[in-house]
Amino acid sequence: QHFSIAAIPGDGIGPEVMKEGLKTLKKIEELHGGIRFSIDVFDWNCDYYLKHRRMMPENGLDTLRDYDVILLGAIGTPEVPDHISVWELILPIRRTFQQYINLRPIKLLKGLESPLRYKSHSDLDFIVVRENTEGEYSNMGGRLHENTPYEMAVQNNVFTRYGTERVINYAYQLAEKRKAKRLTAATKSNGINHSMPFWDEIVKEVSREHSSIQTDIYHIDALAAYFITRPEQLDVVVGSNLFGDILTDLGAAIVGGLGLAPSGNINPEKAFPSMFEPIHGSAPDIAGKGIANPIAQIWSIGLMMEHLGFEEMNHLVVSSIEEVLIEGRIGTPDLGGKNKTFELGDAILKKMQEV
Ligand code: NAI
Ligand code: MG
Repeated sequence: QHFSIAAIPGDGIGPEVMKEGLKTLKKIEELHGGIRFSIDVFDWNCDYYLKHRRMMPENGLDTLRDYDVILLGAIGTPEVPDHISVWELILPIRRTFQQYINLRPIKLLKGLESPLRYKSHSDLDFIVVRENTEGEYSNMGGRLHENTPYEMAVQNNVFTRYGTERVINYAYQLAEKRKAKRLTAATKSNGINHSMPFWDEIVKEVSREHSSIQTDIYHIDALAAYFITRPEQLDVVVGSNLFGDILTDLGAAIVGGLGLAPSGNINPEKAFPSMFEPIHGSAPDIAGKGIANPIAQIWSIGLMMEHLGFEEMNHLVVSSIEEVLIEGRIGTPDLGGKNKTFELGDAILKKMQEV
């Protein structure tokens, strides 16, 4: 089978980890005779912005539309405000291509210890489904009375029935496929009194079609605490754009850090390309040193393979990463090691070959 991939390495450590990602794609082709990738690399990033005053060419989205999947490194530099780099590149891709699911596995890999030292590997193995196209990250609102004592800013949350139903439906379908048969929805209907009760109602409606799934609806503040105190009771967690964003960085922290956390921006209908990327940003503090952890990027390719119908390739990627971590000989500084990005990447690819 043939797949076309648009790769956007981005800024900072983005290109450094993308290099390991592209090596992983080559290895997959090598190991699986039936898969062929054609890869085009796009230099759309903050340097591009400084030259052209846009993050991507005018026909950028049309260009991407024809690919099967998009692979992103990370975007952002101190010279370009984040509301430009993110709002003009990542968000248009997520929205134009209806990537309404942001999928983020929270899984403690074998060979790693959680900062929650009393929790075991089986305690820390769940997945967060974040709504990815509306909610709190809407473009609606504005500022009034600037430079007066009455200055104010208003940002509207947008929850449509269509948008809410589809993400909750997806989360339930995912819960049906997993063993625990449990879904936890994040809410804040005690404080946000229009949109969150609406969200809760839709969770309850959809739950009626899934009687085998146990549903819990928790307020976001309590749920954040449960991530620390009882993560073993979580299996599929579904949240709005903002809540999901916060929960997943917290989730990454309890399973070893941002350098390990992959994500998929998914259009389940496959009407448009989906995009796979590490959760982390461009890490200006370590960029250029060649010491970024490539695991998040490599695991993102595992998620991509699963999306393309090769679940066994995701298993191969994850188990190879775990083998390297169990051996513990090679690790980047964030893992307590002294190795370079490419050394960890090479070690994982070598394991993929052996397994
Ligand atoms: P960040 O994720 O870039 O860095 C946070 C901390 O985690 C830093 O100390 C960094 O060194 C560390 N870190 C991140 N990835 C790592 C890796 N692979 N290996 C080892 N350590 C790693 O978040 P920050 O500093 O808030 O943002 C930096 C820039 O990235 C900003 O411009 C921000 O807007 C952008 N950003 C972009 C995202 C994207 O492209 N999807 C997501 C998040 C932030
Ligand atoms: Mg985030």
